[in-house]
Amino acid sequence: MSPSGWDRLSFLAPAGSVHDWRMVLLYDAAVDAGLLDGLPSTAPALAARLDLDAHAVRVVLDALAAWGVVEPDGDGGYRTGAHAPGPEAAPVLRHHARILRSWSAQLDDRLHGVPPDEGPPDAGRVERMLASLTVLAREAAPGTIDACLSSVPGARRGLDLGGGHGEYALELARRGVYTVMQDRPEVVEAVRRRGFDVAGIELFAGDFFEVLPEGPFDLVLCSGVTHTYDRERNLELLRRIRPLLSPAGVLALRTLLRGSHPVAAIFAVNMLVAARGADTHDEGDYRRWLAEAGYGDVEVRVLGRASEHLVRARP
Ligand SMILES: C[S@@+](CC[C@H](N)C(=O)[O-])C[C@H]1O[C@@H](n2cnc3c(N)ncnc32)[C@H](O)[C@@H]1O
Repeated sequence: MSPSGWDRLSFLAPAGSVHDWRMVLLYDAAVDAGLLDGLPSTAPALAARLDLDAHAVRVVLDALAAWGVVEPDGDGGYRTGAHAPGPEAAPVLRHHARILRSWSAQLDDRLHGVPPDEGPPDAGRVERMLASLTVLAREAAPGTIDACLSSVPGARRGLDLGGGHGEYALELARRGVYTVMQDRPEVVEAVRRRGFDVAGIELFAGDFFEVLPEGPFDLVLCSGVTHTYDRERNLELLRRIRPLLSPAGVLALRTLLRGSHPVAAIFAVNMLVAARGADTHDEGDYRRWLAEAGYGDVEVRVLGRASEHLVRARP
């Protein structure tokens, strides 16, 4: 390393010494092109099979070998490397690659006031979003549901609003809480395509600003949703949820609170890039909106990851 450390900041820093966007982008491109599924192989054979450029395939595989994602087989070919991402790491890495692309393509636009495109996401984007969020949710769901049910121990009916992949609904169903999992039609369709069909979970397709399932619910969980919306939309959502709750029911919002953790500030960039009006909000915002929408008994607690919080309230 140079005495001032400048070389650690260069795009030619040794593998592993910076958080490696190079590996993230190379891995994503290689998976997309089918390179990793095609191993073991030589570069020319792989390129011929996949109708790709042999020179580019060789360059990308050589580079991925720097991180041990692939390794030379000593015979002019390549095989899967000892550090190839496993089934949990792969979707997270691919999601990371999409974030890198969208930040680099769109931050400048946002700074100049150009809003993001509002069109519905295509099927591929929905699948990739669900795949990466599933990994995170599998880890977070047990603790989150513990925290939710501690305030409604006898809960029998739950609503997982913006449930996405369904991991939170699954955790509720495992504990005997019959759960309706609502999301946008394109997401529910993707969840069905993944073969999601679980006793004790009902899938409900629809934009929650337009339609909601019939209550009452002992628990309404809204995880990873409220930072997609601004004050007006969140107030509207809270007001729409309130009549669905049973008198002793609980609303639980899982989100990153602005000002609570440095990761929340970084996450806000993602929301800035992703959707018009999206942002993290602070604890005071949530307390104010909940009071305005007619909720009381508000409690805010940190979840397993210090950057994530659960805001609970009763109607
Ligand atoms: C970031 S994901 C969170 C998924 C899951 N709840 C979790 O915490 O991992 C947000 C989900 O909310 C859904 N969503 C956002 N706005 C919605 C709306 N207006 N109606 C229905 N679903 C919505 C999205 O489609 C997406 O699946």
